[in-house]
Amino acid sequence: MKNIAVIGSLNLDTVIEVPQMPKAGETLAGTSVTQIPGGKGANQAYAVGKLLGKVKMIGAVGDDAPGKVLVNNLKSVGVDVSGISEIEGGTTGQAFITVEDSGENSIIIIPGTNADVTKELIQKNEDVIQKADIIIMQLEIPLETVEYIKEMAIKLGKTVILDPAPAVRDLPDSFWTGIDYIKPNETELSILVGRPLEGIDAIQEGACSMLKKGVKNVLVTLGNEGCLFVAEGTEEYYPACKVEAVDTTAAGDCFTAAFALALSQGKTCGEAIVFGQKVASIAVTRKGAQTSIPSPEEIME
Ligand code: ATP
Ligand code: RIB
Repeated sequence: MKNIAVIGSLNLDTVIEVPQMPKAGETLAGTSVTQIPGGKGANQAYAVGKLLGKVKMIGAVGDDAPGKVLVNNLKSVGVDVSGISEIEGGTTGQAFITVEDSGENSIIIIPGTNADVTKELIQKNEDVIQKADIIIMQLEIPLETVEYIKEMAIKLGKTVILDPAPAVRDLPDSFWTGIDYIKPNETELSILVGRPLEGIDAIQEGACSMLKKGVKNVLVTLGNEGCLFVAEGTEEYYPACKVEAVDTTAAGDCFTAAFALALSQGKTCGEAIVFGQKVASIAVTRKGAQTSIPSPEEIME
């Protein structure tokens, strides 16, 4: 099995359940508030660990109680956390998540120490990148750090997977060149290409625009509609598993982690997509980010 390195964010999620999202100017009564380990990077590292992959994480937390909770949660599933720095006087990243009865969510993040994942911090942990075969990143750490790691990883011949979330407009083509896989959802893809994408043909064209920018493979996740895979000369649609969703938080993170794990085990891209969707479909039937990620036994069942 190959080694996976996740470089990204750690957040303590404060999750509020509401019947439906409040409109601008509206006050609503929520039904519960909970704190759950999250952050796109940490969720992906946790999922690989829980699925028994070999995974190290590089990131940053504050020297506060949430930081310790997040790091201990990763350790509990075997993630090597030696690349996570504790920043003296820093405040660990936070996310404020509203989940409505339909299972849909909206998220506001306060980066905190995720902004401290700088090139200098990466240089201190360069061995983690050197020893990894597959590098997973997201966009909740500084963009210049992501670009720096990408360049380093490509030179070292690593497989680079980027979950471009939260999506950023108008990134130069050089940012994308050489990335092996990106996994935007359809909203993120629309932001990346700078135009609305209505319908599957438009989404496929959007994915092709990313190929022209230098990405090798595009996996567009479509929520309960599944996943569209687009590469040079290939377009394949994979339907989602049918489940009753209660909370879709971290569905994308689960998909990315399980996809990467399957690649690390020598599975084909198609097999990895099927596995990613299977794991994500279980996660959406449960509440929270890391709390929703299934074990290998649960996946077998
Ligand atoms: P999030 O930002 O909520 O973590 P995302 O928007 O990045 O997720 P989605 O496209 O919502 O990613 O979901 C990723 C994958 O999870 C989908 O391709 C699908 O396989 C699975 N999934 C998500 N929602 C559902 C659902 N309601 N039913 C079944 N599978 C789902
Ligand atoms: O993808 C879900 C994650 O996005 C949450 O756990 C939250 O922390 C935000 O980073």
